[in-house]
Amino acid sequence: MNVLVIHGPNLHLLGRRKPQLYGTATLARLNADIKKHAAGLGLKVRAFQANGEGEIIDLLTANAPWADALVINPAAYTHYSYAIRDAIEALELPSVEVHLTDISKREPFRRRSVIKPVCRAQFKGGGPASYFKALEFCASLKK
Ligand code: DQA
Repeated sequence: MNVLVIHGPNLHLLGRRKPQLYGTATLARLNADIKKHAAGLGLKVRAFQANGEGEIIDLLTANAPWADALVINPAAYTHYSYAIRDAIEALELPSVEVHLTDISKREPFRRRSVIKPVCRAQFKGGGPASYFKALEFCASLKK
């Protein structure tokens, strides 16, 4: 099973962006851990990070033919990007939303996700484990 992993804006700054909130691991470390976890579950992963809304939509479109499932951390776009929401809906891939932090316990503007309705599941607040849980959810889809 092929899983497309997309990290949204500012996640290239992991490791130095508010480490008390987002942890000290870099994006490279996170991707290495995601790939290791995925391999243990028998999944293949392609991982990308992009800061732009259009860039994310182009990545989704280009990689959807390869992918059997999508794991996406839309970062700040979570809260207002109907364009990314529509792209996910249009591709009809089983999709999982992830967040390192618990967006339900942060500023009010982060509590709303416009992405959630087009995803099968949402994992939040676990740091890297949010991604691992999403991968496990994807693996459970093939049974
Ligand atoms: C985030 C939460 C978002 O509100 C924020 O804009 C991010 C990261 C998370 O992983 O916790 O950039 O998606």
